[in-house]
Amino acid sequence: MQQQKLVINYLRYDNREEIPLKYRELLKRAEGSLTFSYAPYSNFHVGAAVEMQNGEILTGSNQENAAYPMCLCAERTALAVAASLYPQIAPLAMAIVGAKKDLMISPCGACRQVIWETEHKHGQKIQLWVQGPHDSVYVFDSVGDLLPFGFKF
Ligand code: THU
Repeated sequence: MQQQKLVINYLRYDNREEIPLKYRELLKRAEGSLTFSYAPYSNFHVGAAVEMQNGEILTGSNQENAAYPMCLCAERTALAVAASLYPQIAPLAMAIVGAKKDLMISPCGACRQVIWETEHKHGQKIQLWVQGPHDSVYVFDSVGDLLPFGFKF
């Protein structure tokens, strides 16, 4: 038996001005997609923006349904848009923001698994720019940092 240990590295920005312009723009695009969030049940609006390898930015927002388990998170909506429009083009980065600014919008387990498979499908890590509380932003180089031992067969 061996004791193993996992350590994750991530960045936290407390000042938006320090964020490279390109990612400030990605966060802004995620912010813009909040307008299209359909969340009458939770009233919790989430927006995501994906930077693609071809330079395009695609967006998604959470889409709820009265049959609650069918609710789609912003992250999975954005990745479904990306995969539908550009199945051969890898996403490089994703920004995730919420309308409630006092919270971190950490992707749920289901989204982590979908982001994980998208990375593996393209052989390309997806950098995550995640809204933290009170104007902070957390950056993870790969969803593998948030989902070690993702499922694959
Ligand atoms: N939600 C997202 O879209 N992304 C997240 O990272 C967290 C949760 C959505 C799902 C649901 O529509 C609402 O937020 C409340 O859970």
